[in-house]
Amino acid sequence: MLKVGLIGCGFMGTMHANCYNALDGVELTAVADIRPEKAEQLADGAQIYCDGKELIENADVDVIDICLPTYLHAEYTMLAMDKVKYVFVEKPVTLTVEESEQLKAKQAETGAFVQIGQVIRFWDEYVALYDMVRSGKYGRVVNANFRRISPSPDWGWNNWLHDTKLSGGAAQDLHIHDVDYVLSLFGEPKSVSSVRNIIGEENSYVNTFMQYDTCVVTVEGTWDLPASHPFEATFRVVFEDAVVENAGGRFMLYTTDGAEEIKIEKKDLTVSGGTSGNISSLGGYFNELCYFTECAKNGTAVEKATLADAATSLKFLLTKELKSNA
Ligand SMILES: NC(=O)c1ccc[n+]([C@@H]2O[C@H](COP(=O)([O-])OP(=O)(O)OC[C@H]3O[C@@H](n4cnc5c(N)ncnc54)[C@H](O)[C@@H]3O)[C@@H](O)[C@H]2O)c1
Repeated sequence: MLKVGLIGCGFMGTMHANCYNALDGVELTAVADIRPEKAEQLADGAQIYCDGKELIENADVDVIDICLPTYLHAEYTMLAMDKVKYVFVEKPVTLTVEESEQLKAKQAETGAFVQIGQVIRFWDEYVALYDMVRSGKYGRVVNANFRRISPSPDWGWNNWLHDTKLSGGAAQDLHIHDVDYVLSLFGEPKSVSSVRNIIGEENSYVNTFMQYDTCVVTVEGTWDLPASHPFEATFRVVFEDAVVENAGGRFMLYTTDGAEEIKIEKKDLTVSGGTSGNISSLGGYFNELCYFTECAKNGTAVEKATLADAATSLKFLLTKELKSNA
């Protein structure tokens, strides 16, 4: 049985706990949160710690999963790498490029495997799209649009998500999902430009345009919608010979022969997410933690959504994208 220690039992920690509970051969044996009631909600027999450092120092665990607010990722990931060989950290990997470079140096020193929660790399429709692009089945991609729009996140502990100095705002917290995915599909573009709507000190709307030799990609992200608006993560990819669209709960293929729904076999797993968050399915969260725990159980290298991948995406977002905005 793989013993998991979970640090941070808020919105994402709850999602991860649900995934671990659904995974075979995995047991959540330690949980930590500075709000004891949050840790208690997820414990179900696990040892409770009132701070992440206490868990890292004392818990008997094989892997550590860090679901803390972003500004705490670097400090706790450093400590976790000294304790265990397998560490999972939520996205964005860190708040700054310097911190993620420090984590990479620590990883080289300890030999730890670190996976980052760039979850859409594991989301079924996005995995299917990745395979279509790689196979060349419908020719090359001509243009693509990725969109992630959300009500304002209101669940964060002490409202940390709305303090850009702690979360990086919508660009770093939300938009990074699609930017990371586009980089995984096509690599770095030859040029990039990005506009942001900054209200007060917070960026809440971002639109990024990435130009490649043979295609153009636009990526839109916002979290300034009212609570009544549903969360939406969509894409439309135009290939030479087909259009693939994931929107409105339908994953469609359009060709000159007509339109058809692309069927993906889904695991029948749904949870509430435990808080007022907007995610209703374990979907990619289950897939990414299934991959992570299988690596840990088998003692194999983490090769997907690695620390290095996430550090590259963060660097791109914080340097290239911002620079072009200056
Ligand atoms: N992959 C995704 O789709 C996704 C979605 C939402 C959030 N996230 C990421 O997950 C991370 C956590 O976000 P969240 O929405 O769960 O935030 P949250 O505020 O709901 O949860 C954070 C939890 O950490 C606890 N905490 C704070 N300091 C602590 C400490 N020192 N030791 C132990 N616990 C401590 C808080 O009490 C809180 O319960 C962030 O990095 C966020 O960007 C990822």
